[in-house]
Amino acid sequence: MLADDESRPVRLRRLRKTPALRALVRETRVSAQQLIYPMFVVPGSGVKSEIGSLPGQFHWSVDRVADAARSVADAGVSGLLLFGQAVIRSASGSEASAPDGITQRAIEAIKAEVPDLVLCTDVCLCSYTDHGHCGVLDGEEVDNDASVERIAQVALSHARAGADVVAPSDMMDGRVGAIRTRLDSHGFVDVSIMAYAAKYASAFYGPFREAAGSAPMFGDRRGYQLDPANIRGAIREVELDLDEGADIVIVKPSLTYLDVVAKVRSRFNVPVAAYVVSGEYAAIKAAASRGWLDERTAFMETITSVARAGADVIITYSAPDVARWIAESRSR
Ligand code: PBG
Repeated sequence: MLADDESRPVRLRRLRKTPALRALVRETRVSAQQLIYPMFVVPGSGVKSEIGSLPGQFHWSVDRVADAARSVADAGVSGLLLFGQAVIRSASGSEASAPDGITQRAIEAIKAEVPDLVLCTDVCLCSYTDHGHCGVLDGEEVDNDASVERIAQVALSHARAGADVVAPSDMMDGRVGAIRTRLDSHGFVDVSIMAYAAKYASAFYGPFREAAGSAPMFGDRRGYQLDPANIRGAIREVELDLDEGADIVIVKPSLTYLDVVAKVRSRFNVPVAAYVVSGEYAAIKAAASRGWLDERTAFMETITSVARAGADVIITYSAPDVARWIAESRSR
């Protein structure tokens, strides 16, 4: 409390006096370059429709998504994470790996328009299966090994379409190794894998299910996603995914798992990504719309906390806004 002289308190407030002083000694600096923006592509043409559960986020059809991607890039955001959807769902989610599927066509369109963006794709079956689970079923169980084969096919189809990074989010065992082998044997040695390694079975994915039409028709995802109570389990998932060839590992959701982000950061020397998921975004949006909190400050605080915990890469629905806010605060 007191410095060398009892009459003189330590004055930590000195360096908090002005915006310039605070900026000078700030420990965590968020950059638009570390952001990835998720986008949802849907069937049809001429579609730009706001997603009810995610205010400010849109469903895009393939013919409109490339222009939208261009403005995200112009805002300074480094990457996109694409989510596609089936026209017709099936038990095996066959459209997920079709060369002319929604995601594959969106990849081609975006690559042609904005080749410099880091184009990442979500690799999963849940928006393509008629039952909404992330893999294929054997009875009412998700069959791991049959699902891994499908997931590898989906990843290969994204690479063929031009994806830079494939991001498996299904949480099946062995999928990263299977994807790496499949990509390599087809000449895609340079396509990276960003694995949803520590993906928890979270209530915070609620709004996403409406956005991606991916709610399971029965049961839940606790049979394959991590138990929220476990952190050693997360470390084990990360270890395995890295052994199998993951280049980047994702922790997801973010705010309720900052301890996991910090631990993964300190244990492994690879880029760590954190996903600020739909429920985290929607909660702030909903509160802000009622005037209960300030949206910009709340998002900046969220992103800064995730970076402070150790995330190198942040996947967030507010990426373009955050990029603009950062640019604005610099020009002041
Ligand atoms: C698909 C997938 C989900 C999310 C990303 N990929 C949903 C889920 O696993 O239930 C969640 C993203 C979000 O909530 O923002 N497997």
